[in-house]
Amino acid sequence: MGTARAAVRTANLGLEEAVADAEARYVAARPKSRAIFEQNLKAMPGGNTRTVLWFAPFPTVIARGRGARLQDVDGHDYVDWLGEYSAGLYGHSHPVILEAIREALEDGIALGGPNRFEGPLAAELCRRFPSLELVRFCNSGTEANLYAISAARAFTGRPAVMVFDHAYHGGVFHFTPGADRINAPFPWVLAPFNDLDGTSALLEAHARELAAVLVEPMQGSAGALPAEPAFLRGLREACTRHGICLIFDEVMTSRMSGGGLQARLGIVPDLTSLGKYLGGGLTLAAFGGKAAIMAQFDPRRPGALPHAGTFNNNVLAMAAGLAGLTRVATPEVLDAHFERGERLKARINALATLHGVPFQCTGCGTLLGLHAQAGPIRSARDFARQDPARRERLQRLLHYDLLDRGHYLARRGYLTMSLPLTAEDEESFVGALEEFFEVRRHLLLDRAA
Ligand SMILES: Cc1ncc(COP(=O)(O)O)c(C=O)c1O
Repeated sequence: MGTARAAVRTANLGLEEAVADAEARYVAARPKSRAIFEQNLKAMPGGNTRTVLWFAPFPTVIARGRGARLQDVDGHDYVDWLGEYSAGLYGHSHPVILEAIREALEDGIALGGPNRFEGPLAAELCRRFPSLELVRFCNSGTEANLYAISAARAFTGRPAVMVFDHAYHGGVFHFTPGADRINAPFPWVLAPFNDLDGTSALLEAHARELAAVLVEPMQGSAGALPAEPAFLRGLREACTRHGICLIFDEVMTSRMSGGGLQARLGIVPDLTSLGKYLGGGLTLAAFGGKAAIMAQFDPRRPGALPHAGTFNNNVLAMAAGLAGLTRVATPEVLDAHFERGERLKARINALATLHGVPFQCTGCGTLLGLHAQAGPIRSARDFARQDPARRERLQRLLHYDLLDRGHYLARRGYLTMSLPLTAEDEESFVGALEEFFEVRRHLLLDRAA
């Protein structure tokens, strides 16, 4: 895509001009995406119905996907490193998933009764996840967290929930400053992520009112920032001591092993929420945990908690999810996939060191974050070391440059690896990053740029 020519042309630009130049090329190459965006503006605020998919000046509209490949409506081909924010673990149109959906489709899709998939899928999850004694299904990660929180509140009889700065547990559970104005109105106690002392002090002060501590074992949306094992162990210990339900939001991280990140870390929460790839790419999520907590939903019990939801046992998603877990994403496959992501992360970090540029890859397994910043990043608070305008410009530049080189990922530098990615895709991606380090070296190094 004209990379060499672009490199020569952009080598002498300052950061602001380089971003403007890259953006102009992005716009010029995408007239159809632009036209669709302008049309969509007439019926949707910002032409958008999913905030995370919006980026300025307008997002690339995707026409189709196959395996780990995407094509946009303007005919550009990409290697898909976004992997639908981790819901696309199986890649696009995986034959096992397609077969399961087609087979289920033949028997009807909105049956109004229990179906043959929900029991086996629940059993498979309980077999895999150390914390899951009983599980229930719902439609989204947001909903799974809503039910996990509500189950904890009903179980403990306490109102409050501890969450962490910059956490993302769904559209109405978003704890980045400024993004929290439409959060569901629970009594939240906001604690500092990966700061055990600060968190312990708050936890002790609020212990009597806390029903739950809700934590991502790796903050995904905040930048692929793993919780430190000692931090999670500290939470586990304090929750046990005070009778507080520890909820692991494994909506993203459940792919880290057959039993999620909890199995890898050897830390067992009381409740777990799952989602994303659970329905093989279709809409499905789950929450579950200790039998005593989950039994509150047993409808045979007098005064049972209701858990309604027209699509809780939606046939296509359950058929796809069950086939995916049992025939594709086996524990062995997920372990190997985790190692693959760790190797890619190490490779990117070694490359940045070799080029002497302030750049790093964070995350764990196949959920990774790219950051044009040096020094440890233990929590999103560490991003404040960088000027926010410069950080935003570098993110834009990296995004445009990688799109230009045929690699699709989130603007914030987030990538999630799907199973069909090939070794050649990785080579190509590392090569594109190396080119970015070379061509944009002066911008990465120039603190005043
Ligand atoms: C950790 C985490 N929890 C919850 C959610 C919400 O899931 P959904 O978008 O399915 O509502 C997300 C989505 O990105 C997530 O990353």
